[in-house]
Amino acid sequence: MRVLVVGSGAREHAICVKISKSSLLTKLYCAPGNAGISKLAECVSIKAEDIEKITEFSVQNKIEFVIVGPEVPLVAGLVDILEDKGIKCFGPRKNGAKFEGSKSYSKAFMEKYNVPTAKYKLFNNYETALKEITNFNLPVVLKADGLAAGKGVLICNTLDEAIEGINSILKDKQFGDAGNTLLVEEFLTGTETSLLCFVNGKDIIPMESARDYKRAYDNDLGLNTGGMGCFSPNPIYTDKLKKYIKDNILDNTIRGFIKDNIDFRGVLFIGLMITGNTAKVLEYNTRFGDPETEVILPRLKSDLLEIMIKTRNGTLKQSDLVWSNKKCVTVILASGGYPQNYEKGKIITGIDTVDNDITVFHAGTAIQNNDILTNGGRILAVTCLSDSLEEARNHIYKNIKNINFDKMEYRTDIALTK
Ligand code: AMP
Ligand code: GLY
Repeated sequence: MRVLVVGSGAREHAICVKISKSSLLTKLYCAPGNAGISKLAECVSIKAEDIEKITEFSVQNKIEFVIVGPEVPLVAGLVDILEDKGIKCFGPRKNGAKFEGSKSYSKAFMEKYNVPTAKYKLFNNYETALKEITNFNLPVVLKADGLAAGKGVLICNTLDEAIEGINSILKDKQFGDAGNTLLVEEFLTGTETSLLCFVNGKDIIPMESARDYKRAYDNDLGLNTGGMGCFSPNPIYTDKLKKYIKDNILDNTIRGFIKDNIDFRGVLFIGLMITGNTAKVLEYNTRFGDPETEVILPRLKSDLLEIMIKTRNGTLKQSDLVWSNKKCVTVILASGGYPQNYEKGKIITGIDTVDNDITVFHAGTAIQNNDILTNGGRILAVTCLSDSLEEARNHIYKNIKNINFDKMEYRTDIALTK
């Protein structure tokens, strides 16, 4: 099978590592890919957002299966266009991707189908939002409705911060049209966990759990990022909690999809806030998470390409997923200044010197004259599968010392379970 993976992050590198091991694969392409992916796949220089060129490339190169990594092409309807041309895809159509593309749409759906989530109110008008914000308890959460590259959520501890947030979203349009509608949400406390599920159109099949570290610095300080590290499984995910999530969140979600004629095929990523044996949904994403994918896929023993095809064809069953009992940790090496301003083009050294049981997934990297250069905010995901979380994390931090680039930054407390 001729396969194209769309995207350029460590998530897509982890997907390519798995896909390249499949007996069903004959040729692997990636658009645009990165320096690490180029060792496994033929990288084509088309941006993930350029759905016209991806379609043209797929048709011309007789691609039989397209795996879409990031949200932007999904929300723009890449899967609809390719499927209508007879090219099978892994990822939801536009009406499924809307669960990530519009937070207000997701909240209305959750309300309609009794999926537990934070209380909220929508505002389109700046003056009304300013007037009513005093009715909310602090801290309060402000969210831009549309896609904002993971930056559209503001947690405001004071009324002044909330007013500033309302100004930046509804008046100054910090997130452009993505902020035409503002969600003001009740602040939830508890422990976050990410639950990624395969959805085959009629069943929702959870993968193993993971815990993402979203803040830039140790002890959860600094700004929210795309994710600075992750581990799997997440010990908070007990059998009691699993049952609660199945009965209240997964079953109600798939019931709603079917009732609302949403033929969702791909990954549904459910961001959860856990308190005791109950959970509330923070958000739905409609793709693999990053860095969750880097710790979940190394634990998957089954053939990922086969799983994705079965998901697309509506035949995937829970028993198709065979997991390793080992634990997996990843630590992100980022450019100094990320998630705000950072420089690119720094030479990366030492990737080839890491121990054999360490996998370095590439995120923002590029090759120039045989050098591997930094080419983004998140650069590498240094990953280890081991018998214990502690062993994996110690081994990663020992190996990180061999890797270097100017202004390299990383958290030192990933998977440090207290
Ligand atoms: P989201 O993109 O909606 O998942 O929000 C990004 C991050 O903001 C989440 O991972 C949480 O850390 C935080 N967050 C979002 N909504 C809430 C909420 N209602 N209460 C507390 N924290 C939240
Ligand atoms: N790690 C969070 C995300 O992929 O959205």
